[in-house]
Amino acid sequence: VMDCCLSFLWYFIPLVLLIHFVCFIVADADFTLLRASLIGHKPEAKLKGLVVWITGASSGIGEELAYQLAKCGSRLILSARREEELNRVKCHCLENSSLKDEDILVLPLDLLETTSHEHKTKTVIQHFGHIDVLINNGGRSQRSLFLETSVEVYRALMELNFLGTVSITKQVLPHMTQRGRGSVVTVSSIVGLAGAPLSTGYSASKHALQGFFNSLRTELTDFPKILISTVCPGPVQSQIVSNAFTEELSKPVALAGSQEHKMPTSRCVHLMLVGIANGVKEMWIAQQPFLSMYYAWQYAPTFAWAITNMMGRKRVQNFKAGLDADSAYFTKPKTS
Ligand SMILES: NC(=O)c1ccc[n+]([C@@H]2O[C@H](COP(=O)([O-])OP(=O)(O)OC[C@H]3O[C@@H](n4cnc5c(N)ncnc54)[C@H](OP(=O)(O)O)[C@@H]3O)[C@@H](O)[C@H]2O)c1
Repeated sequence: VMDCCLSFLWYFIPLVLLIHFVCFIVADADFTLLRASLIGHKPEAKLKGLVVWITGASSGIGEELAYQLAKCGSRLILSARREEELNRVKCHCLENSSLKDEDILVLPLDLLETTSHEHKTKTVIQHFGHIDVLINNGGRSQRSLFLETSVEVYRALMELNFLGTVSITKQVLPHMTQRGRGSVVTVSSIVGLAGAPLSTGYSASKHALQGFFNSLRTELTDFPKILISTVCPGPVQSQIVSNAFTEELSKPVALAGSQEHKMPTSRCVHLMLVGIANGVKEMWIAQQPFLSMYYAWQYAPTFAWAITNMMGRKRVQNFKAGLDADSAYFTKPKTS
């Protein structure tokens, strides 16, 4: 019997390790999130009928969030600065779901105009009576080297990505603590956990969000039904590069480059909704080689520094070659 057990373990343990390794190579999310996506609650079962406020709903991840949440039957508040884009997103939601006109509120909002946030929140409460989920998604990235970038750009990044998000959360959270439930989900980034060249200010603003929400989560331990969740995507297809800050506030990105090599927006958003439905506190969502970097930073930071420096150098080379910074990690950048 002993021999039998030993030979079983001899084959079984390497087999389990091999399965984990293969899963890891093909994975595009951390193990908690993957487990939830395989055996956890389905988003449509948990999110149907909930009132969800999305900032940055006029394009990219926020737009796709609106589409998938509408299909789940969530009632929506769509916010961003461009009202006509929000109306376009609303029309698409209505055409592709069973939601009615009154189930989707278009609420133009500038995250930088913090004095307007109290009134905007009152408008939402008047319309729906409460807010179940706030998704802090609106924000802008950066593509510029520190030595060439004005301090005003750093101020703008912190004001938008960090203070704008804090300001909306400050207005919404009291309604959730009063009801004893709700979710505040904030789209951070892989660079909220580690750094990346060309994004020093963007990365700082996302690190600020990580620190803020990690602290807030522990401040709310008396409210076990309030979820504070941060989402840390790697590169995802969206308008983020075209909309990024550059060296000067008024200078647009010269060339965004192709975004095709990035994770499809629909996959990222599906995983986000799985995470929200299953109460995941921090989500790592990225294709390889980025996903392995989260693990390296978490469990082997010295090793992570070496890899980050190699990838960082390539990122700057891509940028200088006029390509998207995250394209061509393993090949020579081609410029045509
Ligand atoms: N795509 C990625 O690779 C990636 C990776 C990690 C994290 N993220 C994060 O994901 C979030 C969504 O970005 P995305 O990739 O979907 O980029 P995107 O397509 O550029 O969308 C950004 C959204 O933010 C809104 N926004 C910008 N400035 C605003 C302001 N002052 N007030 C209110 N809304 C504002 C934009 O709408 P208006 O212009 O109409 O205001 C737009 O709806 C961001 O927080 C970003 O940092 C993205």
